[in-house]
Formats: sequence, C-alpha cells, structure tokens
Amino acid sequence: MIEKLLVTGGAGFIGSFFVKASLGRGYRVSVVDVLTYAGDLARLKEVEGRFNFYRIDIRNYEELREVFEREKPDGVIHFAAESHVDRSILNPRIFLETNGLGTLNLLELSREFEVKLFINVSTDEVYGEIREGKFTEESPLRPNSPYSASKAYQDMLGRAYFRTYGLPVITVRPCNNYGPWQYPEKLIPVVIVKALRGEPIPVYGDGSNVREWLYVEDCAESILMVLEKGKPGEVYNIGSGIERKNLNVVRAILKLLGKSEELIKFVKDRPGHDYRYSLDTSKISREIGWRAKTDFETGLEKTVTWYRENLSWVMSKARELEEYWRRVYQE
Ligand SMILES: NC(=O)c1ccc[n+]([C@@H]2O[C@H](COP(=O)([O-])OP(=O)(O)OC[C@H]3O[C@@H](n4cnc5c(N)ncnc54)[C@H](O)[C@@H]3O)[C@@H](O)[C@H]2O)c1
Repeated sequence: MIEKLLVTGGAGFIGSFFVKASLGRGYRVSVVDVLTYAGDLARLKEVEGRFNFYRIDIRNYEELREVFEREKPDGVIHFAAESHVDRSILNPRIFLETNGLGTLNLLELSREFEVKLFINVSTDEVYGEIREGKFTEESPLRPNSPYSASKAYQDMLGRAYFRTYGLPVITVRPCNNYGPWQYPEKLIPVVIVKALRGEPIPVYGDGSNVREWLYVEDCAESILMVLEKGKPGEVYNIGSGIERKNLNVVRAILKLLGKSEELIKFVKDRPGHDYRYSLDTSKISREIGWRAKTDFETGLEKTVTWYRENLSWVMSKARELEEYWRRVYQE
C-alpha cells in the first residue's frame, strides 16, 4: 500500500497539479524542487502547509539522500526536469545534468531506500516525429532535440533500473500539456500572453507542425491512476487524441480573445523541429481505464480565462521572460 509520496518538480506546471490531486486523494506528500525559473510555490498556495517542502537540487546526491532518510517515501513521482526544447537548444548541458544525472540520483536512492514504486515522467518527444499513424509504447526512441535526448536518457535509465535491479519503475510518456500556470515559454501561454499585451505572436516556420494537446488536470489524474493501477516495468503513453496544427491553435486563441490575426508573425523555424507527435493510448485505456476528459475548446477557454485573470503572475516573471523571448525569437 503506497501512502507517502515524494514528488520531484512539484512546484512546476504539471507537478503542482499532481500534488493537489494526490493530496485530495489522501496521500502524504513531500515535494523536492529547487525552484528554477520554471518553479513557483504560488502554484501550491491553496494547499500550503499540507505537504513538506525541500528546496533541493536533484543533482545534489547528498542533500537528496537526507530527504529520503527523513521522509522514507513509498512512492517517488519524478517530474523535476529542464522541460523546454528551445532552452535545450541554447544550453544543452544542464538538460543532461538534471534530466539524466538527477534521475540517476533518484533511482539510486529509491533502490537504497526500497521505494515501492517509482514513476518516471518521460515524454512523447522521446519517439521523435511521426508523419502518419501513431506511436505505441513499442515504437523505437528516436529523439531529435537535446531536450528529448536527455528525456530518452532518463527514460532508458528507468528501464535499466527495473531490468537490472528490480526497482519497480513505471514509465509514462505524456503528450503536450496545457492549462493554467504554465510558464509562458511554451506555445499556448506564449500566444495568450503576447496577444493580451498586443504584441506580435511568433509562429515557427509556416505553423503547420502538429501537436497532441492534453489538459493538465487530465494528465495529473492519469498519473494518479497509473500510481494506483499500473504495473511495474510497464510504459504508458498518455494522450488525448486531440491533434492540432500550431497555426490553428494560435487562431483559436486569437478568436477567444477577440484579437486580430494580424498579430501573427512567422519566424525562422526551430532547428530540428519535429513535425508531428501522435500517441496510441489504447494501452492506458485498456489496462488502467483512463481516458482524457477535457475537450480542446473547453480546456482552451479555461486556460485563456485564467491568464486573463492572472496576468500579474506572468508580469512578475517579465524580466526573465522578455530576456528569453529576445534570445529565442530574436525580437
Ligand atoms: N509540459 C509538457 O507538455 C510535458 C509533456 C510531456 C512530459 N513532460 C514532462 O513532465 C515533467 C513536468 O513538466 P512541466 O511542464 O511541469 O515542467 P516545468 O518546467 O513547469 O517544471 C519543472 C519543475 O522542476 C523543477 N526543477 C528543474 N530542475 C530541477 C533540479 N535540478 N532539481 C530540482 N528541481 C528542479 C523546476 O523548479 C520546476 O518546478 C517534466 O519531466 C517534463 O519533461 C512535460
């Protein structure tokens, strides 16, 4: 019976929704998060005081060991990561360090402390791109960006710890998440924030790249269900079946905000840009009984409303963001 969870990256976008959902389900939760530019405890304000928090870098084995010693978790849910492709193109090294070596530290400690379940949060990007059809859990990993290569390293390490040491590892590979509280470096919040500020909206290439979109609360719920019903050693794709071209996502947001499409500015394509991701999710629906609930129109409307009402949160990050936008979109 798993009761005590250690959630890494719990102050991040998806991790924070998972922390709230798992507290709601009665788990005891502790969070390890170093609070990089992407981490923010404001995401956990409504559950403040209900979990133990450790501001620790997963690259730091000794400090991490003290947390394991103190908390003796039954389950580790590993979200902490450098998570943005464009930043990995600017600075690949930290991706390998955090996503690779940070994960190695967590797997080693989970083995030493005999954790009953380790959920390794990977990504659909490890498969590389697919023009037609869908990736199953058996598809080969062919990562194309430093980010996805570092996630493939993390993913394969989890597999190796299951096969070599018998550590009960489950791997999940979610598709693109969206929703409130996402840092405005990823497509949907960049578009919303730029549109709200009346600024040009950068769209890579001709905007024809396709992504599969999953509302963040659905993702958190799926991982809780995997925790409760998943089988160690298995891999589960987590997708919604909702595929959209980037340009159509941008247009839908502009429509919701009543803004002109003249704001769209096509910019030089991201190097190595994957054309399309698409997941076959029959395994998780068959074996776990999970299916995404939120349709894209509902999820997008909720997200747009949230940013409109919480623009001050975004503005509190303005300095870091504007510097980053300048570098990546060459504004
Ligand atoms: N967002 C998506 O669409 C998506 C899709 C598939 C998979 N994933 C994966 O899900 C996980 C969570 O993604 P997210 O979008 O919530 O990311 P995020 O960038 O919002 O959050 C990452 C969190 O990890 C923390 N962190 C980073 N480096 C750390 C370190 N060295 N030590 C401790 N904490 C550290 C950050 O402070 C932040 O709170 C990641 O592993 C990501 O690769 C994300």
